[in-house]
Amino acid sequence: MSDFRSVVRIGGDGDGGEGAGALPWRHESAARMIKYIGSKRALLGHVSAAVASVLPQGGRVCDLFSGTARVGHALKAKGFQLWSNDHNAYAHALATAYVQVDREVWIDRAEAVLAELRAVKPEAGWFTQTFCRDARYFHPDNGARIDAVRDRIEAMELEPELKAVVLVSLMEAADRVDSTAGVQMAYMKQWAPRALKPLELRLPDLLPGVGAPCRATQGDAVEMADQVEADLVYLDPPYNQHSYLANYHCWESLVLWDRPETYGIANKR
Ligand SMILES: C[S@@+](CC[C@H](N)C(=O)[O-])C[C@H]1O[C@@H](n2cnc3c(N)ncnc32)[C@H](O)[C@@H]1O
Repeated sequence: MSDFRSVVRIGGDGDGGEGAGALPWRHESAARMIKYIGSKRALLGHVSAAVASVLPQGGRVCDLFSGTARVGHALKAKGFQLWSNDHNAYAHALATAYVQVDREVWIDRAEAVLAELRAVKPEAGWFTQTFCRDARYFHPDNGARIDAVRDRIEAMELEPELKAVVLVSLMEAADRVDSTAGVQMAYMKQWAPRALKPLELRLPDLLPGVGAPCRATQGDAVEMADQVEADLVYLDPPYNQHSYLANYHCWESLVLWDRPETYGIANKR
């Protein structure tokens, strides 16, 4: 890696679950994000403290396996300049919204687009058929909302940052009403109680700029490593052979909106 000064090692795992609901954006672990295996929700305080112990505010941090982007989000909130990378499209959308987007630049347009999307009339389509009828990850009533909102987002031809913000809003709304145990390899036989609640679009917890651009990329960490320019690199790779894409294939299809062929009971891409 070029221009690289230090690495901090942080042991232990976070958890894939979620705690209390949304808190103000200045809170360290405030953002209510998707359920995710290996998420560092429970460790954000340790990660931030470890980074702050070796790097002055404004230092450049690169997170090469960003997942939910919550580490980048917490560090951006502390004033660091972030570069977040992950190879999956849904993770790139999360990093764009939570790291690359500066709140003051995008919030008005994001609110306006979300207001328009909240008024879209539900209409069942590919998502409902694939993930609510053939499989049962979401209730069909919410599937129809997801289909209609996602179609409208595509038709709007939004700038990449704005599109990422509303896609994250939709992903997080769907995550709040899913009928799974946290991964999309299986679904509940009976609807989870939350799956019967209506989908609700909320504004993601966007952060103000830090005075220098933060960025999100979608690439293979090994290939990206040569290009990294940072004072500190945060490395949180997968812990086993199970593919994140298989565990979160609904999010990948929701973000790409490519209506792929699916297979098996899980209806994976
Ligand atoms: C343990 S998770 C990271 C969790 C993250 N720190 C968080 O708090 O949400 C590992 C991430 O690495 C990503 N990943 C796996 N192989 C990758 C690769 N070769 N290049 C880039 N990202 C990769 C996965 O998509 C997954 O999001």
